[in-house]
Amino acid sequence: MDLYFRVRSAVERGLTGAEERLLRESPPEPRSLLAHSLRVSRLSRRLALSEGGDPMVAALAGLLHDVGKFSGGRVLGRGEDELASAESAREIVVGCGGGEELADKVAEAIRWMYSGRYVSPEQAALHDADVLDKVGVHGLLVGAMKWALRGDDPLRFVELRASQFLTYSRNAERILLTDEGRKVAGRIVGNGEEAIVRLLEEVGELFSERFEVEEAEVEGIPVLVVARSDCGGGGRPEVILRTKRGRRGGVVLEVEEECPGEGAAPISFSFYLPII
Ligand SMILES: [Fe+2]
Repeated sequence: MDLYFRVRSAVERGLTGAEERLLRESPPEPRSLLAHSLRVSRLSRRLALSEGGDPMVAALAGLLHDVGKFSGGRVLGRGEDELASAESAREIVVGCGGGEELADKVAEAIRWMYSGRYVSPEQAALHDADVLDKVGVHGLLVGAMKWALRGDDPLRFVELRASQFLTYSRNAERILLTDEGRKVAGRIVGNGEEAIVRLLEEVGELFSERFEVEEAEVEGIPVLVVARSDCGGGGRPEVILRTKRGRRGGVVLEVEEECPGEGAAPISFSFYLPII
């Protein structure tokens, strides 16, 4: 095995170096957040129209809902995110000549988007558009593309992200606030669930792993946890679920998957539970 790892290190140095040189010469433009904002804007407008809301407020809210994500030179988390985005959105709308009244409505929709309740047609439309962008085969693809930008492979994606994707898919229709949003979810969510189950099978096959989907209920919310079904040399991993309070009343689910003794490396990840 020593030879294998020596060759692997040489390949790692060679390929990483080559990719780094290539990226220096023609760096990719990071546009995934802009692309997400444009998609959410378009869908948010459509959902607001179906709710009898103001399509311009919803479209602007969609466009601006993530502008505060990196405020003050750091990445904010849920809660802080919406507040910072609402603040920046207000300034941008006013700065672009949108007027105070419009700016206030846009900021309000963003501020309350994850309050878990129906505050206004525009806020509900924005919330649903943001959720719908992350489910279905499309949501799976978007998630995987973001993952690929960080240089990780599909096995890692399955190990660390599949649980969150399945949990949000399972709860999508209950999370959504608009009728039209629920209709869209009804048409696309199942596709995403089917696709990720197929992905688990394929990744399992190609990486010689086996995955199982376990169902649990955490704080009254149905949760799906994807875990390895064995530890390589036999034995099942122990899956421990813990919760902690996140920002603005959100609940963070922490998942730890540990193999006994010298088994495979532990896996741990966490995500916000959907607000129902
Ligand atoms: Fe978003």
